[in-house]
Amino acid sequence: MSSSPIPSNVNVLPQTRQLLGLYSIIRDKNTSRSDFIFYSDRIIRLLVEEGLNQLPVTDKLVKTPTGAEFKGLAFEGKICGVSIMRAGESMEQGLRDCCRSVRIGKILIQRDEETAQPSLFYDKLPEDISSRFVFLLDPMLATGGSAMMAVEVLIARGVPQERILFLNLIASPEGIAAFAEKFPNVQIITGVIDDGLDENKWIQPGLGDFGDRYYCI
Ligand code: PRP
Ligand code: URA
Repeated sequence: MSSSPIPSNVNVLPQTRQLLGLYSIIRDKNTSRSDFIFYSDRIIRLLVEEGLNQLPVTDKLVKTPTGAEFKGLAFEGKICGVSIMRAGESMEQGLRDCCRSVRIGKILIQRDEETAQPSLFYDKLPEDISSRFVFLLDPMLATGGSAMMAVEVLIARGVPQERILFLNLIASPEGIAAFAEKFPNVQIITGVIDDGLDENKWIQPGLGDFGDRYYCI
């Protein structure tokens, strides 16, 4: 975990022993694909729950079967998911497991393997996205180029920064710094901030290519 100062719009999951154990499995190069999927999904679920935790609420009073009153709360605001394809699609089920019938849009952005520069190929988003909170889904925040390009697409569709929550499993300090400088009002929810990028812009220690490990290898 990096020791650089963390910008105020970045929320890192509590570094519990459970979480460290889950990351130890998915980072291990010898982990099978089925285990990689299973344990990544567990982390994704934690990220979604933390994202939901950031949404606004109102007071709500309910009566329990004992006749007593309970001062609780109700969730406010409609949400939707937007996955950055391909790897971001791995996070859709975790969102669906927590939010029944949630609408999900897609943005296809691919990072060039040589230059690490992102290219935008396609987007298909819910019509009313500008009135929703958007959970932007992509497991890896490396240089931040792909995520920043996706946020630009959302802003062009009328979504204010304040209603975007970007969920990822591993972030680099470089990606966090670039993203937070450009979009200081987008909330980042990450599982861990790693040491940094190598000369090929891969996250270190990282876990390799998330999309390949989840879908192919
Ligand atoms: C990976 C990852 C992010 C991006 C991160 O996707 O899922 O989208 O790279 O790198 P960046 O922060 O430097 O932009 P990739 O483009 O490799 O495609 P994939 O989803 O098909 O694996
Ligand atoms: N994409 C990945 O899947 N992993 C990295 O380390 C960087 C980009």
